[in-house]
Amino acid sequence: MIEQVLEKIFDKVDKIPTFPKVAMQALEILRKEDVDLREVERVIKSDPGIVANFLRIVNSPAFGLPQKVDSLFKALMLLGVNQIKFIIVASVAKNYFEKNLIGYGLSSEDIWLHSLGCGFIAEEIALDAGFSINKIDAVYVASVLHDIGKIVLDLYTKLELNKFIETFEENPKQDFIQVEWLVLGVDHGLVGATLLKRWGFPENICFAIRAHHDPDLMLQSDVAAIVALSNMLINMLGIGGGVDVFKYKVPSQLLGFLDIKQDRLLKYMKIGLYKSLVFKKEF
Ligand SMILES: [Fe+2]
Ligand SMILES: [Fe+2]
Repeated sequence: MIEQVLEKIFDKVDKIPTFPKVAMQALEILRKEDVDLREVERVIKSDPGIVANFLRIVNSPAFGLPQKVDSLFKALMLLGVNQIKFIIVASVAKNYFEKNLIGYGLSSEDIWLHSLGCGFIAEEIALDAGFSINKIDAVYVASVLHDIGKIVLDLYTKLELNKFIETFEENPKQDFIQVEWLVLGVDHGLVGATLLKRWGFPENICFAIRAHHDPDLMLQSDVAAIVALSNMLINMLGIGGGVDVFKYKVPSQLLGFLDIKQDRLLKYMKIGLYKSLVFKKEF
């Protein structure tokens, strides 16, 4: 049943460009045990757009480098694997968040700041948790792209807009996720995960996106739990959560599962807010 719903949605939505091959290849190389930066350079160089973006971001005041860097290899050497990945993922992701999401009441700036902020919070939690390089990679990709399903559904919900409005009026206590299930038979987490699966992303990334609004599923993987928690925290800051942002509360099971004390949350929220405001101009 769910498969049929997804097929129907994706059949009607053919306007989402595929995640660029060059970025996928670069991320794959960066997941290896011994990363060969020359190989990363070779792959990235085949896309002048990514190179230009990369150098612009690295030379931005947010990075505070002592001198201007005009060679891609030098930039890669200065950054380190995690930062390289973040720049690749975030600069590609930005292209997907360039339109206002009318059905969700979100401007392109809202959804972009929300995605970027979620990425920064998730990075901080994953670093504190001592995650391996591979898991940090999954956390980056899944957190920055966690709401990409909203883009697919926003294109689709225009066709079902009246049904959405009616369902909201009939069920004033339901949150947006429940209304997505009632009207469409899916939520944007499931749709986003399906999109990333089609693009060939690893299972743990797809699962974290699938689970980010599902209270049971988010407790089945630490990557999923971090993405879900980061999404809640950025929402609680009022950044890009949409119509029902202030309904969010962090469940104690989620904190218990990640072994995070309540008093750490403020630190993560501050970092998310600060970094996303500083870096949003650069991406
Ligand atoms: Fe979401
Ligand atoms: Fe979100």
